[in-house]
Amino acid sequence: MPEKKCTVKFLPDDVSIDVFAQDENLLRLAIVSGVHVNASCGGAGTCGKCKVKILEGEYDSEPSAKISDEQWEEGYRLACRTKVKGDLVVEIPIESRHEKGVLSRVRGDKQDHILAEKRWGAEYDTVPPQPIVKKCFLSLEPPSADDNISDMGRLGQAIKREYGLENLSSDLSVLREIPSIVREGEWRVTATVVSTACGNRIVRIEAGDTRESAYALAIDIGTTTIHVQLLNAYTGKRLARGAEYNAQMSMGEDVITRIIHALKPGGLEVLQKRAVKTVNEVLDEVFEKSGVSREDVTHAVFAGNTTMTQLMLGVYPKYIREAPYVPAANQLPVFPAAELGINLPATTLAHFMSCVASYVGGDITAGVLATEMHLGDELTLFMDVGTNGEIVIGNKDWMVSASASAGPAFEGGGVKFGMRASYGAIEQVRVNPLDFEPMIMTIGQVKPKGICGSGMIDCIAELQQAGVISQNGKFNRDLAECTWRVREGEEGGWEYVICREEETQLDEDLTITEPDIDNLIRTKASIYSACAVLLKSVGLEFSDIQRIIIAGGFGQYIDVEKAMTIGLLPEVDPSIVSYGGNTSLEGCRLACLYMDKVEQSEQIASMITNIELSVSNLYMDEYVAALFLPHTRMEEFPIRAKMLEMTKKTLAEARCDK
Ligand code: FES
Repeated sequence: MPEKKCTVKFLPDDVSIDVFAQDENLLRLAIVSGVHVNASCGGAGTCGKCKVKILEGEYDSEPSAKISDEQWEEGYRLACRTKVKGDLVVEIPIESRHEKGVLSRVRGDKQDHILAEKRWGAEYDTVPPQPIVKKCFLSLEPPSADDNISDMGRLGQAIKREYGLENLSSDLSVLREIPSIVREGEWRVTATVVSTACGNRIVRIEAGDTRESAYALAIDIGTTTIHVQLLNAYTGKRLARGAEYNAQMSMGEDVITRIIHALKPGGLEVLQKRAVKTVNEVLDEVFEKSGVSREDVTHAVFAGNTTMTQLMLGVYPKYIREAPYVPAANQLPVFPAAELGINLPATTLAHFMSCVASYVGGDITAGVLATEMHLGDELTLFMDVGTNGEIVIGNKDWMVSASASAGPAFEGGGVKFGMRASYGAIEQVRVNPLDFEPMIMTIGQVKPKGICGSGMIDCIAELQQAGVISQNGKFNRDLAECTWRVREGEEGGWEYVICREEETQLDEDLTITEPDIDNLIRTKASIYSACAVLLKSVGLEFSDIQRIIIAGGFGQYIDVEKAMTIGLLPEVDPSIVSYGGNTSLEGCRLACLYMDKVEQSEQIASMITNIELSVSNLYMDEYVAALFLPHTRMEEFPIRAKMLEMTKKTLAEARCDK
């Protein structure tokens, strides 16, 4: 649990929230606390609606033309432009609030549950790295008349004696350089040794002690983004990080379209070169940021889904897509990264994380490694939701996996104003159930230009809780008489206006439409039903799960309660759910630094049993049952069922009173 920094109290609702992050944004705290403050520009500071009065405490706030000098003197500030520095008491003025009593009755007493990114295996940070490529410093005895064994023999003896490495061989380049280097270094040299199952190979020799100039790269090859982390392989320190959209994106957003492209003449070569080009661009960035010379990179660990892995390696991906869905290989060879065209020296070794099946790749193996679910007894559900939904359930004794063809809705695909979690994306939404006014927050607190996965989950859950949409995702047409926000769009479909054109970066109103909601319901249904089928396959139920880890491109602000409200997550104790961030990159990092983690990753890939959902009748039944908010089997969501009943009753009374 992170350390508490301070507490913010909101009046007149008398709601307090503990703050754990430095400089937390006041509007975000209001959203998380369930305190309604009007906010329609996403925190850009332009609508002026999120005005609050700070009664006491420490904060830092930007001046705004929306607040007069007189109001400023009285303590009025824009919540979205205010950073919390210490304990605060904040009053929501009448013009910025709605009838909270009704809001809290509708929402229940539970505080919204936002996930903080969690790291597992942090104790490894204090363990000195033991990487698969190691720099060994050696002080050699110079040869003499009594001891005139070869330079290479002398080096081998010292490596065995000092580092316990046997079965040594060397590259030809090392043999060519060794006579001059050992003498230039006055018999103090550093040998770079690669350890594999086949033995230990010396790949580089340098004069003097260069152990601290040993670097490694963790590389996550995502379908959308390629992330790189540069590490010092001697100290374990993270030195720089970079990311770039995968240049393959122009050939299709999902793996299937990329495979189709790869099958065209020259297609595979183009895709391979594009991935390499992106990696090279990110490498340029991290080397420039860190000042590290690429010549000193000893090894790189890559992870990607099976298609991305095969495309990066230039391996024909046709059979990944055709039944019975067979990948070229799950365990991949180790070779110099330069052979792929990656701008690294010939001595830099490339290691690819092992894949499990055609649709459960090395990124999932790396994710399991990072979350340590393979080491504990706890029954864990790991889900990586990106353009596909990959799921692993199990613990140290067994693991099963499946891939749900969820579609890219949570990454913005197939949603009118959908976008990835980047600047200008609406990531948090609250809807006042009395007047249907939204309260939104965007990434970067700029004017909104779209809505990302966590924003869509919030939006659908809130619209359902406010009675704007029914459990089948259709708009309550009658509400068009009460609010302009619910309307029939120009193309004839019904929609809810989240922001007016002038509040956005767009040249039209930003809406969520019925087809968008249908799309999201299909996506969440495919993920939930995949989990249900996996559990049934091993004779377990959702109530048996002891922890849930969400990884992938979902964004940090996924609200667990809202995810349960729409039926994306099962109804469990929210405290067992955590957000893993980019677990694929973290798994690569661990494998870069520790040889035993490389071994563990290979064990993980071989112990996971994959279940092919496309041939499962049970999956189809489960999927159809899940095409409802939250589910047709409401007995699996007893709290939501009660909340829905209560909401209907409370809102009916409150709206009558109005
Ligand atoms: Fe703060 Fe618009 S000015 S949300």
